[in-house]
Amino acid sequence: MAKQPASKNKPSLDDTLGLRPGQSIELLKALHIVTREGGINQDSRRKLKQVYHLTQFIEPHLRELRAAQGGKISLVDHGAGKSYLGFILYDLVFKAEPEGAWVAGVETRAELVEKSSALARQLGFEQGMQFVNLPVAQSTDHPDLPATVDVVTALHACNTATDDAIAFGLKKEAKLMALVPCCQAEVATHLKAAKQGGLGNSSLFELWRHPLHTREFGSQLTNVLRCLQLEAHGYQVTVTELVGWEHSMKNELILARKHQRSNPKAGARLTRLLDDLGLAGDSGLRQRFFIPDHTGR
Ligand SMILES: C[S@@+](CC[C@H](N)C(=O)[O-])C[C@H]1O[C@@H](n2cnc3c(N)ncnc32)[C@H](O)[C@@H]1O
Repeated sequence: MAKQPASKNKPSLDDTLGLRPGQSIELLKALHIVTREGGINQDSRRKLKQVYHLTQFIEPHLRELRAAQGGKISLVDHGAGKSYLGFILYDLVFKAEPEGAWVAGVETRAELVEKSSALARQLGFEQGMQFVNLPVAQSTDHPDLPATVDVVTALHACNTATDDAIAFGLKKEAKLMALVPCCQAEVATHLKAAKQGGLGNSSLFELWRHPLHTREFGSQLTNVLRCLQLEAHGYQVTVTELVGWEHSMKNELILARKHQRSNPKAGARLTRLLDDLGLAGDSGLRQRFFIPDHTGR
C-alpha cells in the first residue's frame, strides 16, 4: 500500500491511524474504520485503538511462541463480534508469513460470523482464519476446533463469556490468554444473596451493601477471582490498563502466561477469599472459578 500523502494542514491517514507498512486499507474499510471516501470513522477508531493496544501487548508473545513451535500458532478469539481483533492481528502479525498460523473467532451472532467469513475470503485470509457460530461454553468440545490452542483472547466478551473463555483456555492448554472483560453480573448476584447471611457480624459486607457497590465490587471481585484461578492453574498473571479510561470503561487487561503446571498456593488463596466473603458455601461460584483438584477443590 502506498503511503497516503499528508496535505498541508491535515495529517495523512497513515499518521492518524498509525498504519504499518503493508497494512490493508481494504480491511479497515470493510471494518468501517476508514470510510469509503478515505476518512476516519471516529466511533470505530476507538475500537481500533483498543485493538492496536492489545496487539502491541501480545505481539511479542505471539512471535516468541511461534518461533518456539517451528512457525505454528493457533489463536481463538471469543465473543469475536465483527472480529476486529482477529482480522487486525492476522493482518499485522500473520499475513506476511501465513504458513502455520490459524486464527478463529467464536461468536453467537450468525450474521457476524457470516460477514467475517466472507471478509476473510475477500481478503484472501481464508486459509488462516475461521469463524464459528457458537456460544463460548459450547466451543470447548466442538469438533470444529482443535484439541489444543496456543492463544486465547476475549475482548469485551459479554458477561460470563470471559469465564467460559478461561475454561476453554484451560481445557485447550493455552500458553497465553489475553482477556479484557466486560460487565459480569453473576458474582454480584451471589454477593447480593450473601447479604442475607454468610458473613455474620463481619463488617466486610459494607463493601457491597449499596446496590451500586454490589455491582462494582462484584465486578472487581470477578476479575480478582479470574486472576487467582489462572494463577492456580499455573499462569503468571499481569493486570494493566488497556487504553486510557476515557476510551473505554471496560479497560482491564488480564494477561496470563502459562509458566508452571499449577500453583496450589494461589488455589488456596482463591478458596480463602470466597470463605472470607461468606461465599465459600456457594457451589456455583466454586464451579465457575474451579481450581485444580489438588489445591483443595
Ligand atoms: C461487546 S461485543 C465485543 C466484540 C469484539 N470482541 C470487539 O471487541 O469488538 C461482545 C460480543 O460477544 C458476543 N457474545 C456474547 N456472549 C457470547 C457467548 N457466550 N459466546 C460467544 N459470543 C458471545 C456478542 O454477540 C458480541 O458480538
